[in-house]
Amino acid sequence: MAGFGAFSSRLYAFFTRNPSTARVVIELAGLRPDDRVLEVGCGAGGAVELAASRIGAERVAAVDPSPTFVEMVGKRVPGVEAEVSGAENVPFPDASFSVIYSVASMHHWDDPDAGLATLTAKLAPGGRLLIAERLLRRPGHGITQERITEVETKLFELGQVDVHTVERKAGHRRLAILMSTRPA
Ligand SMILES: C[S@@+](CC[C@H](N)C(=O)[O-])C[C@H]1O[C@@H](n2cnc3c(N)ncnc32)[C@H](O)[C@@H]1O
Repeated sequence: MAGFGAFSSRLYAFFTRNPSTARVVIELAGLRPDDRVLEVGCGAGGAVELAASRIGAERVAAVDPSPTFVEMVGKRVPGVEAEVSGAENVPFPDASFSVIYSVASMHHWDDPDAGLATLTAKLAPGGRLLIAERLLRRPGHGITQERITEVETKLFELGQVDVHTVERKAGHRRLAILMSTRPA
């Protein structure tokens, strides 16, 4: 799996403990008190902490293929269910979550189509999926307009509705957030 190793996880966490992208995505997710939330590719847990502060840690789960990140998140936000896994093999039952989001993670996934299929299956009816990536002109650590179209098409094929992408500023970066909903 293309997860971060122990050293790169610690280095990343040192520089990126509270990314501005996390605030943008949690705002957009519009979390409600009865939501059950999963973050995929949680890294050092900035967005996990924000989600837990809004609806309670016991309503938030997180996965990341890096055991170092998962351990960090477990210590940072006690009560959150954090598991070592990629987007492709999330270890929770189908239809378990009303909100699933990922921030700057999809471009790392080994198999994005498999990841999207897994995540849409984990959504409860009416559940919302948010995939946030840095908007780029050329392929790299983020997403291009061309790739957005491909991912939107995949989400339609997986039966998602209300598929659309919004753009937001996060610090000096432009974020694209691909939003879609599981049919009710
Ligand atoms: C750039 S970091 C972003 C971390 C965090 N979401 C943030 O915004 O700070 C990318 C994350 O994706 C994770 N990742 C790598 N491969 C993955 C996969 N197959 N499924 C889910 N996450 C993955 C990495 O371990 C890392 O935590």
